[in-house]
Formats: sequence, structure tokens, C-alpha cells
Amino acid sequence: MKKKVIIANWKMNHDFYETTSYLRNLLKIIFENKINQKKIIIAPSFPFLHISNQILQGTTLSIAAQNIHQMDNGSYTGEVSAPMLRSIGIKKVILGHSERRKYFTETNEILIKKIKIALKYGFNIIFCVGETEVDREKKKHFITVKNQLEKTIFYFSLEEINSFIIAYEPIWAIGTGKTATPEIAQHMHQYIRTLFLNKYGKRRANDLSILYGGSINDMNAKDLFLQKDIDGGLVGNYSLNIKKFLKIIQS
Ligand code: PGA
Repeated sequence: MKKKVIIANWKMNHDFYETTSYLRNLLKIIFENKINQKKIIIAPSFPFLHISNQILQGTTLSIAAQNIHQMDNGSYTGEVSAPMLRSIGIKKVILGHSERRKYFTETNEILIKKIKIALKYGFNIIFCVGETEVDREKKKHFITVKNQLEKTIFYFSLEEINSFIIAYEPIWAIGTGKTATPEIAQHMHQYIRTLFLNKYGKRRANDLSILYGGSINDMNAKDLFLQKDIDGGLVGNYSLNIKKFLKIIQS
């Protein structure tokens, strides 16, 4: 069965004290209000993954890394490898985020390597796709997303992609306050599910969690999550504030 999932992508925000006090407060509120925890994944910055994982130990909330390097180890100054993250108990990673593609020139070729190394070390992958504003204006949004999937994930077998989560994040909606309407998002999610149906069959397509990301807030989350093919969200800005994030979780 496809799962409903909410992921907080903190990007380069929250220092040590903000991270730890946020997580402790979040746990407290979740337990007090009996909120189903299985759905919640938090992606803090690298230096705080270890402590974050420790704080969430024994709960069903989990931690994801925002990135990994594509090599096992070596002379890559400033980078963090998959085995390093595994050694501190991290089992989930976000890959293909548009900010990584744009600012760190992550190409499809690099992403294939990152998927391979993540699979080698047993990570669950949250993989992002999404079109630019120009793509959409030129009505190329479906073809762009199809290409992103065909040139990365679709090289892998059904067994390999079994635990993947897809996040559809239209680039024009990320951090801009311009959310896709529920109809626009649903249309793309349905399309992505059909691509998975054609490639991997009905079972995988039906089981696939497809999250929406891009200016989700406490006002628009509910309508987005009501859509048939939207199985949750990847939340940036609005996950930084605990109260706002909780409202989104409860949506
Ligand atoms: P946003 O970011 O919610 O701030 O638009 C979403 C994301 O980039 O994952």
C-alpha cells in the first residue's frame, strides 16, 4: 500500500541548538497529540544528522540526509559519503533536488552514480523531479519530467527501485510562494504514476508514494493532499517553523 509521507527539508537552515530543540519539541507535541508518526521524515544539515538520529531513536520518525557523494570514499574535500552516513545510522537520502541540480551542477549522469551508491549502501531514496517555469510556458512540463525519470531512475530494475519515493517539485514553485494548484499537481502526479505503470507494472505504480513539493504551506496543504495521486509533501520553508509544520502534518 502506498504510504502518506511528510518530509521536512530544512536545506541550509537551523544550527545545532535550533535543530535539537525543534526535534525534542516536535516529539513532545506528537506524543501528546497522538499524531501518527510513521509519516514524518526530517532532513537536517549534515553536522546534525547524528544527534538528530539519536533524538528520534525509538520513535517511528526518521531522518534523511539532503545529499550524498557518488564515491565510496577518497580525495573529495568537503564531501560526505554514503558509508559515513550509514555509520551513524542514516538510511534515507534526498537525491535530485533542483537546488542540487542548479547550484551544484548535478547532472543525470551524476545522479545515476548517486543512486547506485545509495542502493549499494541500502538507502531509501527520495528522488525529486520537476520542470522550470519556461518548460511549463512552452508546455514541455510533461516531457521534462519524463526525461528526468527516463535518464535516471528508469535505468534501474523494479527490485532496485522498490523503496523509492518520488517528489514532484515544480522549480517555479520552490521557495517562491507560487504553489501549483491542486489540479496542476494532481495532473502531473497522475502522469508520473502512469509512467511507473508502463515501466514497472501496476503493483509498483499503485504502491508508489508521490509527494508534492513547492511552497506548501499550512493553508494550501489540505487541498493538495486531498488529490488522489498526491501522497504527501516535501516541505521546505514551512517546515522550519514547528507550529506551521505541525499544521501541514495534520492536513
Ligand atoms: P519550499 O521548498 O517548500 O520552500 O518551496 C520545497 C523544497 O525545495 O523541497
